[in-house]
Amino acid sequence: MTIIAPSLLSANFLSLQEEIQRFDGVKDLWLHLDVMDGHFVPNLTFGQTVLKEIHRITTHKLDAHLMVTNPENYIEPFKSLNLYNFTFHWEASIHQDRLIQELKKHYPSVGISLNPATPIEVIPEYIFKQIDLILIMTVNPGFGGQSFISGCMDKITKLQALKEKHDLNFHIQVDGGVNQQNAKSLKHAGATNLVAGSYIFKEPNKNYAAQVSSLRE
Ligand code: DX5
Ligand code: ZN
Repeated sequence: MTIIAPSLLSANFLSLQEEIQRFDGVKDLWLHLDVMDGHFVPNLTFGQTVLKEIHRITTHKLDAHLMVTNPENYIEPFKSLNLYNFTFHWEASIHQDRLIQELKKHYPSVGISLNPATPIEVIPEYIFKQIDLILIMTVNPGFGGQSFISGCMDKITKLQALKEKHDLNFHIQVDGGVNQQNAKSLKHAGATNLVAGSYIFKEPNKNYAAQVSSLRE
């Protein structure tokens, strides 16, 4: 089953608990937490102060997407958030190998994210054996509600071919402009994990579970 990861960036922050609990009972769902530092990306969101209680009100896996410079500085403070997955941007780190080894000590799942203009070839093949997830950004990171960049499709196809060739097991997660129109072709190309922000949260009747299902059809 494809994992659907609603991005809380598009949720109503004045009623965050209620928003999160609209996903209660939905299977194969991760909650996607977009952490931005106003430096790696031109926007600021939330950090551990806001995120620290989330694990108390949901049983869904927490999926942190760090759009920050110096992601290594977040390993320690984020340990208390009960995260399932910790994804950092390859472009934001100089010592990626060291960072991965360190993250693996503390988080069940470790992910690497690539900006739209970063080719998958920057990641050496041996790293693919060590990580749990590759996040292909299909918008330039920083904001919800942008349009899907179709030129990124090719990277998903290439990653899927690599998985098959080397019998690898990582999730291919796609983030940015995901909706019912492109979900099918993304899954067909190899995506196993779809992040969706505005498509889910801007549904006027707030029937988020139905929006999640529609991405699986
Ligand atoms: C953008 C974030 C995304 C964003 C996606 O930088 O990483 O997770 O919330 O929002 P939509 O689905 O609206 O493009
Ligand atoms: Zn994200």
